[in-house]
Amino acid sequence: MADTQTDGPRADALVLFGITGDLAAKMVLPALYRLVRDGYPLCEVVGVSRGGKTLDELRRHAREAVAAHDTVDDKVFARFADLLHLAEVDYGDPESFQSIVEKTEGRGFLTHYLAIPPDLYAVAARCLASRGLNERARLVVEKPFGHDLASARDLETELTRYFPPDRLRRVDHYLGKDAIENLLTFRAANTLIDRALHRDAIHTVQISAVEDFDVADRGGFYDETGCLRDVVQNHLLQLLAYFVMETPRSGSAEDVVLERTRALRSVRTVQPDEYVRGQYEGYQDTPGVRAGSTTETYAALRLHVDTERWAGVPFTIQAGKALKATSTEVIAELRKPVPGYHHTECARTAAPNLLRFRFEPDAGVTFHLLARRGADETVVDEVFADADFPHLSGSNTRAYERILSDAISGDPRRFSSMESVTECWRIVGDILDPPDKPIPYRPGTWGPAEAARLTPDGHWYEPHRAV
Ligand code: BG6
Repeated sequence: MADTQTDGPRADALVLFGITGDLAAKMVLPALYRLVRDGYPLCEVVGVSRGGKTLDELRRHAREAVAAHDTVDDKVFARFADLLHLAEVDYGDPESFQSIVEKTEGRGFLTHYLAIPPDLYAVAARCLASRGLNERARLVVEKPFGHDLASARDLETELTRYFPPDRLRRVDHYLGKDAIENLLTFRAANTLIDRALHRDAIHTVQISAVEDFDVADRGGFYDETGCLRDVVQNHLLQLLAYFVMETPRSGSAEDVVLERTRALRSVRTVQPDEYVRGQYEGYQDTPGVRAGSTTETYAALRLHVDTERWAGVPFTIQAGKALKATSTEVIAELRKPVPGYHHTECARTAAPNLLRFRFEPDAGVTFHLLARRGADETVVDEVFADADFPHLSGSNTRAYERILSDAISGDPRRFSSMESVTECWRIVGDILDPPDKPIPYRPGTWGPAEAARLTPDGHWYEPHRAV
């Protein structure tokens, strides 16, 4: 676990590649602005682009990006804008990286953050090294890390030629979400929950990350990627790891990452008959999508977690676009009571207890319980107990605030270790490119009905506050 042992120095400048790109506009710039607004001591930010913008234009672009998410406070924005600098590079010309040397002159340690297409990661690392910009620096790369296990390993080999493993960080913004990290705290702090989350009590667990929006203007990227690689191989397997992992020996980054990785190692490789994929009707009309594309926009799979706590409990994950609602939840269904004197009737007909962990749209947990309805002691009604976690966020802007401040400080706990990336590719390795076509589904539905067969009782739970 060499890449989790050391935190490394705090960066004196953030070198942000792709500052004029989509990811920077949607996530990174708004998150940096919020950090400044909330009093975080942000270092200088050297935006790197291929040219075509002046510094003033960059600042205006940053303001527009922030304004799309937040009300812009002029004073705060002025403080943020003062920290922004611009360097122009040509990825075909390592000499051009001299502009970064000039803009970071006198700064001690650097964090290079690559918000650029993955095929440029190795090129950027090589060019940085050619100007000595790798010597006192760490490298942060966005997802996806590879297209499969072999390409992930190749990328790792290439990047570690220039940046040692303990100075390489792989982003998975789900690891930056408070509400997901809270899974561990919530369980450790509440014996009631920790005891219930065990094969003795749990019948099955469903993880759903459904989205009501479609691929929109990301056709080109998405068609190469598909749902399994876009969100399941990374985000949802990391979420699963947080849910099934044991409490780490300590709160150190090393112990947390170690335990999360151990959880992933215990997940069996998914078999082709444990996977159902779908494609929403109309997807192929999206600009950038290939005619006759067989890329999936919906993925559902069954998993097995071979640990003392979870052995024998069926897990299912589903994710997709153009579905009926947007929601991310983990639902643990408890075993039904054994028929007995009082509850013979309930045991036969009533709904099972559920523990519903909600991340999006509102973080919290909902308990589905049963209570006697009236005079007849055997008749029960379902009652819900909602606990909202108003201070916890599952939002991606907040997640990026954490990711960026950790990228600057060096704390590795909210990044994917190479070992966990390797495990995640291994888990989906046998289902990455199936020969059959995805099953069509109508936008605004819950995806292909066939996916229900993966669950032990033939149904998926809808989100708690659906539609
Ligand atoms: C991104 C995917 O990584 O995660 C998107 O590329 C997806 O397709 C998004 O919509 C989901 O993230 P969040 O934080 O909105 O749940």
